[in-house]
Amino acid sequence: MNEMVSNTEKLLHVMTFGCQMNEHDSERIAGVMGLEGYTCTGDVEKADLIIVNTCSVRDKAEHKFYSELGRLRKYKKAKPDLLIGVAGCIAQQEGEKIIRRAPYVDLVFGTSNILNLPAMVKRRVEHHVRVTEVDFDREYNMLDLPADRGDGLKAWVSIMYGCDNFCSYCVVPFTRGREMSRPSASIHEEISRLAADGYKEVTLLGQNVNSYGKGLEEGVDFPALLRLIHDIDGIERIRFVTSHPKDLSDRLIEAMAELPKLCEGLHLPMQSGSDGVLSRMRRGYTFAEYYDKVKRMRQAVPDLYLTSDIIVGFPGETDEDFRATVRALEMAEFDSIFLFQYSPRPDTQAGTLPEQLADDVKAERFNIVMDLQQKMTLKKNSFRVGMVQEIMVEGASKKGSELMNGRNRGGAIVNFEGECRRGELVNVLITEGLGYCLKGKIT
Ligand code: SAH
Ligand code: SF4
Ligand code: F3S
Repeated sequence: MNEMVSNTEKLLHVMTFGCQMNEHDSERIAGVMGLEGYTCTGDVEKADLIIVNTCSVRDKAEHKFYSELGRLRKYKKAKPDLLIGVAGCIAQQEGEKIIRRAPYVDLVFGTSNILNLPAMVKRRVEHHVRVTEVDFDREYNMLDLPADRGDGLKAWVSIMYGCDNFCSYCVVPFTRGREMSRPSASIHEEISRLAADGYKEVTLLGQNVNSYGKGLEEGVDFPALLRLIHDIDGIERIRFVTSHPKDLSDRLIEAMAELPKLCEGLHLPMQSGSDGVLSRMRRGYTFAEYYDKVKRMRQAVPDLYLTSDIIVGFPGETDEDFRATVRALEMAEFDSIFLFQYSPRPDTQAGTLPEQLADDVKAERFNIVMDLQQKMTLKKNSFRVGMVQEIMVEGASKKGSELMNGRNRGGAIVNFEGECRRGELVNVLITEGLGYCLKGKIT
């Protein structure tokens, strides 16, 4: 009997690059294949199926993928039955070209084709053909996709797919397709199931969660969706990414102030502090409008943790534009940022602009902003010394360590002393504010 099981059990190894959407898509790939009898393994050498879930948001990410793919070739030589699949944003963009470049790849599938993976594997095995499926599924928002999350405490939940904004630098509208919201009943059902399974925190995912509901007939917008989810017993913390500043409404600010489960963390990508650059990025707001929303959000939500994305070296960014970004960072006082050097991407409008900046200019601006933000993060964290914060316990801070670790409501990591269990909410007195985390002890 045991032998039969080990003969039929297949092992899946998923490698993930890119953003939370991709991390969650990898959980779905594992969920879909789990129903076909595949179990996940962390050991790439044991796998029968390797899926590389790719990101193409910057040039570097794409290079990293091709070198990773090259390394996988040797496993195929050692194990001829091994199947290699490529998923995610590069797969969506490049399609069959990936197989031409790396003929040992068996399957290429796009960002809305995950549910077809079992059928693709079957075709590959039974008909000995390499399979590419990258057509956008226009009904993707209606599908109920299984997910193998593994965490037990915190879960990502997609509320919308795609993006219609076409910021001039960004490849995402091409790799994820048109914006589609998922019906609220289906989101509610998934989160209720998670709560029944013991999950305590959900992070709602979408490229622009503030425009949730567009195209659905049910008339539920993002603040209304938050209220619906707030009523689910068992869920104690609700977070969401990403918010687009142009669509952040007063009703969202009210919801943030009113709903206790909604955490005091907001990721609001500013991208640049220069109005000229923002306009050429097609972001749809000026710095003054951005800053006004930040001020109102901070009035409504004391001790808001505000994080952002910044791009330096956008085509044509002058010294004056760059100084405007530095001034904006000093005014906005972000808790932390994701900082990027502009990277030209295929299909995008900015990729063809003539005034591309030299790499050393981009690198210099990157270092200036990095330094400034590190000081800002330290300053903001040191203000928090002496505060008592609610932490959701995740476990030991390191294997074998007596320090525990968790996140505060703003989303920052806190390492602390005291007796507690994973999943518990505890009050921690902050004793030290470091550049990358806070330290404290249970009160
Ligand atoms: N939907 C989200 C973020 C998507 S991509 C939003 O609108 O904010 C994540 C971040 O990558 C972006 O916010 C941007 O700062 C950065 N990014 C996107 N394209 C880029 C490019 N071509 N070069 C450098 N950074 C880029
Ligand atoms: Fe890209 Fe802009 Fe869409 Fe964000 S909102 S995914 S930056 S196009
Ligand atoms: Fe995410 Fe990268 Fe695609 S950031 S949406 S995986 S291009």
